[in-house]
Amino acid sequence: MRIGLLTSGGDCPGLNAVIRGAVLAGTRAHDNDFVGFKYGWKGVLEADLVALDRLSVRGISKQGGTILGSSRTNPFEGPRGGAANVAKVLHDHQVDGIIAIGGEGTLTAARRLADAGLPVLGVPKTIDNDLAATDYSFGFDTAVEIATEAIDRIRTTAESHQRCIVVEVMGRHAGWIALHSGMAAGAHAILIPEQSVGLGEICTWVEMVRDRGRAPVIVVAEGFVLEGAAEAHSHKGLDAFNRPRLGGIADHLAPLIQMKTGIESRATTLGFSQRGGVPSAYDRVFATRLGMAAAGAAAKGRWGSMVALRGTDIVSVSIADATNALNRVPQARYDEAALLFG
Ligand code: F6P
Repeated sequence: MRIGLLTSGGDCPGLNAVIRGAVLAGTRAHDNDFVGFKYGWKGVLEADLVALDRLSVRGISKQGGTILGSSRTNPFEGPRGGAANVAKVLHDHQVDGIIAIGGEGTLTAARRLADAGLPVLGVPKTIDNDLAATDYSFGFDTAVEIATEAIDRIRTTAESHQRCIVVEVMGRHAGWIALHSGMAAGAHAILIPEQSVGLGEICTWVEMVRDRGRAPVIVVAEGFVLEGAAEAHSHKGLDAFNRPRLGGIADHLAPLIQMKTGIESRATTLGFSQRGGVPSAYDRVFATRLGMAAAGAAAKGRWGSMVALRGTDIVSVSIADATNALNRVPQARYDEAALLFG
């Protein structure tokens, strides 16, 4: 069987480990051969593909980014889009099935293609950890490590100057990175998309910290909605899926906190540093196992499925289960963290 791999949507650490895991397991255990579609669904629509053999995936599990490139192309849009065109490309290039490595948008497209009868299966990817039907997504562990290290560093300069620093991390719909990195680094408040909080409460936490002689550090997810605001802060237009491009909530909050408390306040946005660079050891192992399992699922013809983590096991679930809902921070996890605020 000939399988096409693609990486689509925002990149994240561990994509290359999935590719390597799939190619090694697929060639060794299932006698498959592989091609890679360049830049996600764009490579499918444009029939831009490269051969992927054992040699081409040598040593890549520790590399950040993706050797195949990524894009946010939607396979149902444009003159070459649509299930029939995708089926033709697969037929013309003797590709028997696609393993799509991606997040919500990529997997929704994969699901639509599978519903149209195309042989597609998914591997969940997102630093935001917001996909349902899997306990965790690879890339999240690395992003939390990067954010934690950054917050640790920011804390020392905040202490030197007795400033309040608001650190912005990624997290569009879910505050997992903020919750975990904030808890790990001992942040004095964690603001997430799932919980709207007012400026007054934030400032109460900030003042409590200042009153015991400490420098307040607030971690905020980009998707946080300040009480009274209609939606998450955005001033950068729309992305390819017509969603507001987020970012800037820390810059918005810091002067408000300074004005209300009189404490000098600054903002730092971690941005793409959370998505770049080498994956953690955990993510390398996790992503390799997902890739191996995806090759196994393809060999068994489990199209329309997604490999996922349940406890410590890699299992197969339907892509529909993964895309029907979001994995958001439950109230109990927020309440637990909130006991430590201030
Ligand atoms: O999906 C992961 C993510 O990191 C989100 O948190 C963020 O909103 C988005 O990607 C930004 O990515 P890009 O600018 O590449 O579209």
